[in-house]
Amino acid sequence: MNLGRELVELERFEPVLDALPGPAYLVGGTVRDLLLRRPPRFDVDLAVVGDGAAYAEQLAARLNGHVTTHDRFGTATVHYGSDAHVDVASARTETYAAPGALPDVAPAASIEADLARRDFTVNAIAVSLPDGAVVDPHRGIEHLRDRLVRVLHEQSFVDDPTRIFRAARYEARLGFRMDPKTETLALIAVPQLRGLSGARIREELYAIFAEDDPETVLGRLQALGGADALDVEFGPPGLQPRLRDLSARYGLKEPTWHLGLLSVHAPAGRLDEWKVPRRIADAVEAAHREEPAFRERVAAAETPADVVRAVEDAGPDTPLYALAVADLPALLPYFERLRNVRLELDGDDLAALGLDESPRVGEVLEELRRRKLNGELVSRADELAAARELIAE
Ligand code: CTP
Repeated sequence: MNLGRELVELERFEPVLDALPGPAYLVGGTVRDLLLRRPPRFDVDLAVVGDGAAYAEQLAARLNGHVTTHDRFGTATVHYGSDAHVDVASARTETYAAPGALPDVAPAASIEADLARRDFTVNAIAVSLPDGAVVDPHRGIEHLRDRLVRVLHEQSFVDDPTRIFRAARYEARLGFRMDPKTETLALIAVPQLRGLSGARIREELYAIFAEDDPETVLGRLQALGGADALDVEFGPPGLQPRLRDLSARYGLKEPTWHLGLLSVHAPAGRLDEWKVPRRIADAVEAAHREEPAFRERVAAAETPADVVRAVEDAGPDTPLYALAVADLPALLPYFERLRNVRLELDGDDLAALGLDESPRVGEVLEELRRRKLNGELVSRADELAAARELIAE
């Protein structure tokens, strides 16, 4: 099989093909997606048998680009054109000293040796550049056709338990399924998830939350025993799509990883172990804890100002979480309107009206805001009149 034509059509890749300083291979998800005729991905990965860093420098020079980010595996990113980039890595082998540990790497003598260290057959296909010849030693193309996620060898999940998360992601994203043997190996290796560092678990969860349908991935992980192994629960069902809808509808711009964490019910302190930023970890834990009482309080609110008070007494994620868990009509005006209500007057205006700096300033502003939220004050003139009255009291 040859992908020469598809390579030329790969967005912004043609200059790279013309500039290659020597033999290289396209590897990873881009190959898989090209073969599946899915839209080209953002990250294009090249592997070079030999010195990838030197190759990247030569490629960058030919593209009038520049090189950045050398990670612990010697991967270099070549930036070119207005904002395009490719990653270049040296082909390598990997051995695992202990389950879940990061691998010891060594240069690979061939692309086949590099492909043999990879997670799944459908991710272990290379395309020789620039000619487009496909290198498929593990029958990846056949498994793409059969929609299968299949490991290359029995130790795969033990070597790298993060592959259990990855398998669940590919299943959900591509509509694939692990073949029975791979699924059995995943089930056997699931307890190894406990041995992963917090930061690696966090990164895998964030990758799940970045998927179009994170909930299906979480459901699959749960079915595989992943939630039990991590001592967490995922849910409730429907939360993620509703959070995304609400976030979009109200222009909240919450990142997917933050919305995703709201589906993770973990023992106190666990998010911290995973190195989730403290502020977010606290907000997520508070949302889970406070939601039932918050819901009752909002439902019982008699005025808009009561709703806002309930929101302001709660953690920053609690209102959004409550709204996504189940309908709460009394909270809608908060997101639609009340959260943007601001007084036109401030402390300076009160000073001009003769109220000197004192705790009374805060009290008057608070009372003005309450009235404004409740629709009693519409214009600046209304606010001034009410302020005069309050100051005179
Ligand atoms: N890989 C692996 N084992 C891992 C992580 C990555 O074997 N634990 C290999 C796979 O061959 C994968 C490639 O490295 O295709 C690139 O990794 P990544 O960018 O995470 O995955 P992609 O398949 O390229 O992309 P994505 O999941 O984002 O579609």
